[in-house]
Amino acid sequence: MAKLIGLLTAGGDSPGLNAAIRGIGKAALGSYGMRIIGFRDGFRGLMENRSVQMKSVSFSGILTRGGTILGTSREKPHRMPVGNKVMDMTQVLIENYHKSRLDALICLGGGGTQKSAYRLMEQGLNIVTLPKTIDNDVYGTDVTFGFDTACGIATEAIDRLHSTAHSHHRIIVVETMGHKTGWLALGAGIAGGADVILIPEIPYDVGKIAEAILRRRHEGKNFSIVAVAEGAMSKENAAALNKIIERKKKSKDQKEKMKLKEELKKVESRYSDNTIDLSRQLEKLTGLESRVSILGYVQRGGTPSVADRLLATRLGTACAELINSGVYGVMVASKGDRTEPIPLKKVVGKRKTVPLDHPWIECARKVETNLGD
Ligand code: F6P
Repeated sequence: MAKLIGLLTAGGDSPGLNAAIRGIGKAALGSYGMRIIGFRDGFRGLMENRSVQMKSVSFSGILTRGGTILGTSREKPHRMPVGNKVMDMTQVLIENYHKSRLDALICLGGGGTQKSAYRLMEQGLNIVTLPKTIDNDVYGTDVTFGFDTACGIATEAIDRLHSTAHSHHRIIVVETMGHKTGWLALGAGIAGGADVILIPEIPYDVGKIAEAILRRRHEGKNFSIVAVAEGAMSKENAAALNKIIERKKKSKDQKEKMKLKEELKKVESRYSDNTIDLSRQLEKLTGLESRVSILGYVQRGGTPSVADRLLATRLGTACAELINSGVYGVMVASKGDRTEPIPLKKVVGKRKTVPLDHPWIECARKVETNLGD
């Protein structure tokens, strides 16, 4: 009997998701004679049993499309909003997996999705995952699909901001996404020639940034582009947050841990205007006009880049091959030119941040980019 695979996309959408769905689908149907059903809107679709049978035609014409043809959501099986409550619906998802007579479930997503998928694996489901996110922060893979496209969009934005910053002799602070990591800001900042790049991995000193901007002015460069990751923060704010994180780590009391988690969320949300604050402070310290450009969701939209199409197709087809060989409980990772199944256990609960000795950081410093430290 041909294997029946379930497929879902979860978490924030990302360019390359449809290319991955196509890679999985064409290889699974064409090369291995499997059958596929797709669940709508992430784990919620599996909970509500909202599925579509996917045929060869379902994978036609989607390679270049952004977003996900299946829809997505950030909802987790063990914390699912149902009515006005949040409930653990894991058992319902498991029942539906069995009712659908699935041989395996493929989950395409970022760090949160890997965790949810791992939980389902622990309950005995045959799971394979693919790493997608524009943030590039999934542990265990060299790169995630979506990152290259988003980095390209952010780079183009920085290119465009140069001419207006130059004409008005302004500072332009451009904010990229990236969640708690700096891959996007750093990649686009280097490629776009930003004068200052601020990432969460290197808490910044606003005084040092102002000095760098004034130095540029003395050299006759009357504008500056500051690329800042949404998660970047000043040394003071980072220290305050780290204090809470340390207390949470040390605490053995579950109630206190939950309280500290809430406190952490509150403090983080207080810092959500970091970029606007930074721009105001730079204006004060330098006497130059400063403007903010928050790139936001444009970075996630539209056609995937060539590199993302290649990566998603490579990971998607490798995924079908693994399922055909009965390899489960893994994330299909990219390692150099190859793909590698990494046990989900090794992936979950970790985040791939930018290492401080990463070649991108070294080369940014060598082209005299100020990193806020
Ligand atoms: O994880 C991708 C990402 O775009 C992050 O860069 C960003 O912080 C977050 O998603 C935004 O989430 P949402 O789509 O839920 O607003």
